[in-house]
Amino acid sequence: MVKHRKTVEALEPYRPGKPISEVKRELGLTDVIKLASNENPLGCSPKAVEAIIKWTQEASIYPDGNCTELKNALAERFNLEPGQFLFGAGSDQILEIITQTYVNPGDTTITCWPSFSRYEAVTRIMDGKMIKVPLTQDYRFDLDGILNSITDNTRIIWICNPNNPTGTFITAEEQKAFLEKVPKDVLVVLDEAYYEYAHGGDYPESVELLKQHHNVIILRTFSKAYGLAGLRIGYAISNKEIIELLNRVRGPFNVNAAAQAAALASLDDQDFVQMSVQTNQTGKQYLYQAFEEMGLEYIPTHTNFIMVNVEKNSLEVFRALLQKGVIIRSGDIFDMDNWIRVTIGTPEQNKRFIKALKEVLNR
Ligand SMILES: Cc1ncc(COP(=O)(O)O)c(C=O)c1O
Repeated sequence: MVKHRKTVEALEPYRPGKPISEVKRELGLTDVIKLASNENPLGCSPKAVEAIIKWTQEASIYPDGNCTELKNALAERFNLEPGQFLFGAGSDQILEIITQTYVNPGDTTITCWPSFSRYEAVTRIMDGKMIKVPLTQDYRFDLDGILNSITDNTRIIWICNPNNPTGTFITAEEQKAFLEKVPKDVLVVLDEAYYEYAHGGDYPESVELLKQHHNVIILRTFSKAYGLAGLRIGYAISNKEIIELLNRVRGPFNVNAAAQAAALASLDDQDFVQMSVQTNQTGKQYLYQAFEEMGLEYIPTHTNFIMVNVEKNSLEVFRALLQKGVIIRSGDIFDMDNWIRVTIGTPEQNKRFIKALKEVLNR
């Protein structure tokens, strides 16, 4: 047998939300909805679809490894330089590039828990150690707890803002005070996958912090409000020195050309993003009201998903909902055994989910 790295023995494959096709096949159902992976229920911009169709003529050509047009477009939008951006096959891939660049065996990275599970995976793949500080009582990132956990071995702090799965965020003021206390040789990754749903009010505009703080990487994605999850494209924003280092690790053609074309076209359709955010807002209010009527506790969210306490084993509820053709996420994967996480869908999907939940919980 070929010898594998010892590290791999302790890793587990990522458990994604169940695909619709699999549920249909396994349960013999014809009408299945998926509210499990925080995808955009409206799909993506028609401009993106047009760009993808146009791209098919060029499928035989390698993509632009530098994502030049996208970098230029975003640089103009954020008033930054193109060299401050790096693209990945989803922000997932950028998490890997970051640990490959910064984590040596035995180094530690810190985050809170429950949060996005990939921070731990990409750390451990590099033989790093993960420190997970519990969220606060109100399910928010415990910034003091993180500060208290920093040691000489700490390389990276992952801040999921807003947090997946709880939907809570840390405010601009909290983030600013936190960054001032973090040692300058510790990298802070601000994962803003749900930025479009959260921005405004007290939510930080992190790009403004890049000038003062040279140890910060911001992550954004086209997978959520832009509805391009299937194409895999996300990006990092930082200073040119950090981006230059990450670029040494990044593969040559890591973002496919269809994704680049679709993302570029999507940037030009902010009306679609607005419509997605508005649909999400309406759906959120509907679900809040339904949960309240059912007497269920939920965590107010600043994302396109909600965590709700079903007061029952979450795997059982997950399986029962599956039988009714509704795919959600059970909370056990986040160590929140009596909770489920549901993505906010279209009005029809939300209604169907609530009807099924009422039946499953007998409420
Ligand atoms: C907090 C967070 N970060 C990153 C990602 C990865 O997004 P993608 O790789 O699709 O850009 C997700 C996806 O669910 C997420 O919830």
